[in-house]
Amino acid sequence: MKTSLLAAIAASLSVALASAPSAAQDAPSQGQPGQKEGGSGGGQQRGVQGGGREGGRGGPRGGGPGAGAANVEGAMKGMNRGLKAIKAAVGDAAKKPEALKLVSEMQRDCAAAKSMPLPAAYTKGAADDAARQKLEAEYAADMRKLMRMLVDLEDAIAADKADEAKALLARIEEQREHSHKELGVD
Ligand code: HEM
Repeated sequence: MKTSLLAAIAASLSVALASAPSAAQDAPSQGQPGQKEGGSGGGQQRGVQGGGREGGRGGPRGGGPGAGAANVEGAMKGMNRGLKAIKAAVGDAAKKPEALKLVSEMQRDCAAAKSMPLPAAYTKGAADDAARQKLEAEYAADMRKLMRMLVDLEDAIAADKADEAKALLARIEEQREHSHKELGVD
């Protein structure tokens, strides 16, 4: 009796766990979009959805059309999750549709970041206006490069070119390292 009650509880728990969003472990902690800098679209929270899964500041996770990151930080976090998931999916034919969807979502996050100004925290150290503008131009140029690579990645996955896709993933990571280093992110 006791045992069967326990078994029933265990069974219902595992059902609940199985149906819980898999996002939990790396979901952004809580709260609203960081809004830590001025460049978040004038304080609007574009596309941030009410559901817990969206998690507020982390940007979209499988959000529907129109969902979008509210700031650069959220878009970056979205790209980070996407990159990890794509790396795990590339080369597995059964995961091709998922990989294609993930790449599109990364492109959306990239476009979101690209459409927002470089957060002021990263231009604070600029000696003058010209230096600040140079940093902003570099940010924009690097985001364009990233977007091109993401479109190439989509092509490679669509054409079942796993090796090419893996090489692009490596280049995307190099770009991330390079840009973060240049800007002093981390
Ligand atoms: C796929 C490539 C990239 C990934 C996965 C990525 C990932 C990340 C992550 C995880 C963060 C930290 C977010 C946080 O927790 O605060 C971040 C921050 C940032 N990244 Fe990237 N990044 C990528 C490419 C780039 C590129 C190309 C640029 C510049 C052109 C860039 C500029 C920044 C900036 C400025 C921040 C700071 C955002 C803030 O704190 O407001 N990133 N990125």
